[in-house]
Amino acid sequence: MLLSGRIPAHVAIIMDGNGRWAEMRGLPRIEGHKRGAERTREVITAATEVGVNTLTLYAFSLENWKRPDEEVSMLMKLLEFYLKKEFSELIKRGIVFRTIGEIWRLPENIQALLKDAEEKSLRNKGMNLVLALSYGGRNEIIRAVKKAMNLGVKPGDVTEAYFDSLLDTSGLSAPDLIIRTSGEKRISNFLLWQAAYAELHFTDTLWPDFTREEFFLALHDYQMRERRFGTVNARAER
Ligand code: IPE
Ligand code: IPE
Ligand code: MG
Repeated sequence: MLLSGRIPAHVAIIMDGNGRWAEMRGLPRIEGHKRGAERTREVITAATEVGVNTLTLYAFSLENWKRPDEEVSMLMKLLEFYLKKEFSELIKRGIVFRTIGEIWRLPENIQALLKDAEEKSLRNKGMNLVLALSYGGRNEIIRAVKKAMNLGVKPGDVTEAYFDSLLDTSGLSAPDLIIRTSGEKRISNFLLWQAAYAELHFTDTLWPDFTREEFFLALHDYQMRERRFGTVNARAER
């Protein structure tokens, strides 16, 4: 598919439907997560190819900690596997890696791998790859409020730009396009503040079936949108 025209600077994805993909095939849910991880790799590559500046992937929500212990621990193992297997290659390709969310809740070995990847990619100049892990939008906002209070910030100094700088996503632009797979049409506590003017793309495709072509379809859908930002007839170029 020809992808001329504006490419969203920041694409964020709620990668949903792994469990149902597996259940439909009579497989354990973890098989869906494994297949989903392959699509994640494919979409990261596709995003770098078309010049997306920032790709944020919702990989594990704060609420996901409430899943059965067995599923949580298998998800952590899968994450560990991919961090070890894939990340040095991504870093070599120039990706700047960071995380958002309550990382301190993750197993220590995973925290160490994440920190290592962030540090090694610090001087890179390529696409920002942001993993939302142990992430909740409300929680992020509350933590930002606490930071401001601890800093003794005066009410008059709390501007939107300042508040932005206290969030985990500090320094990143707001998402232009949020994609959710699996047919659910909700935001599930993802980037609540940042999503204010994001375009939303919902698809019934389950994440393990979300190929690069599907990703390009979502970008194409975005390219058809007119973003008005509350004004009249503003043909915003981004
Ligand atoms: C998304 O797939 C991955 C995570 C939330 C970790 P799900 O595991 O939510 O899959 P469904 O929604 O049950 O199909
Ligand atoms: C959202 O999916 C979180 C991730 C994709 C990581 P969920 O499957 O957890 O969301 P709900 O429970 O359907 O809202
Ligand atoms: Mg789900």
